[in-house]
Amino acid sequence: MAVRVKLFKIIAIGVLLCCTGAVKCAEANRNDFRGYLQGRHVFGSQCAPCHGSRGRGDGPWSEGMTVLPRNFRMGIFKYRSTPMGFLPTDDDLRRTIKKGVSGTAMPTFGKSLSESDITAVIVYLKNLSHRWEDLGRKTNGMILPEEPSWFAESENYKKHLARGRDTYRQICVNCHGESGKGDGPGSKGLTNVWSHVVAPANLALPHLRSGSTRQDFFRTISMGLDGTPMIGFGSVFRDEQIWELIAVVESLKKSDRK
Ligand code: HEC
Ligand code: HEC
Repeated sequence: MAVRVKLFKIIAIGVLLCCTGAVKCAEANRNDFRGYLQGRHVFGSQCAPCHGSRGRGDGPWSEGMTVLPRNFRMGIFKYRSTPMGFLPTDDDLRRTIKKGVSGTAMPTFGKSLSESDITAVIVYLKNLSHRWEDLGRKTNGMILPEEPSWFAESENYKKHLARGRDTYRQICVNCHGESGKGDGPGSKGLTNVWSHVVAPANLALPHLRSGSTRQDFFRTISMGLDGTPMIGFGSVFRDEQIWELIAVVESLKKSDRK
């Protein structure tokens, strides 16, 4: 008898847990679905003219663009705080959507879309490629290390800048060129995974596509721009060497510091 009561209790608790779980699940699904529908609407009106109604990067406005809108079907993203081969975090997508991509047609949506619309369009965007179902492609974004104090110490700064220039000459000059204009000996005939011809970025421009703060440079140089010849150097260089390269990139804009 005692065994029976115990069994009944276990079943009853089990059923109870299942039910509350199911209710919560259904609620979460409903919210996800609502977000998805809102996102689909935002995408259709704000993004599809360039990125295409199916997210293939072939919307009517894309014709003739030199830097073409991303094809979201491939699930490969340039602007990430995650290592090469991984998907961007929601924060990465949010940053690109809010700030846009300087020097390309990708607009700044920080003012024209609400936070809720941006969140929803991110949900929608993550349904456009099967890669988002692969847990092996998801990871946390890098934590940016603190900026070294030598940026503000004139003598020390010069020493690190000189070291950075040595590294730049060894590795980066081949593509980006001596003056950073993107005209190095290896700059010709480069393509990206979307089969478009790409040139190494002109690092002397006042605003770069992936952002122009030291934090943005750190992220880009460490993690690279997936799908393009710009690989991530985070596993090659120590943090200090990356900061030194950032000093070089900044100096390319200011000829007076040469
Ligand atoms: C006027 C054209 C245009 C519109 C409208 C537009 N985009 Fe873009 N988008 C682009 C272009 C061009 C790029 C490629 C930039 C590059 O490769 O550096 C891009 C890139 C992106 C990226 C970066 C992908 C990566 O590789 O990291 C994201 C994310 C993105 N767009 C999302 C959106 C969303 C969401 C909307 C709508 C709310 C939108 N875009 C609307 C043109 C557009
Ligand atoms: C094999 C060629 C190649 C090498 C080597 C290379 N890059 Fe790049 N880099 C590129 C290309 C191509 C792009 C532009 C990718 C795109 O947007 O399609 C780029 C983009 C960048 C950007 C982002 C520019 C922007 O507009 O956001 C930075 C910063 C950068 N490179 C710095 C470096 C540094 C520092 C080194 C040396 C450690 C380096 N690169 C080595 C090819 C290269």
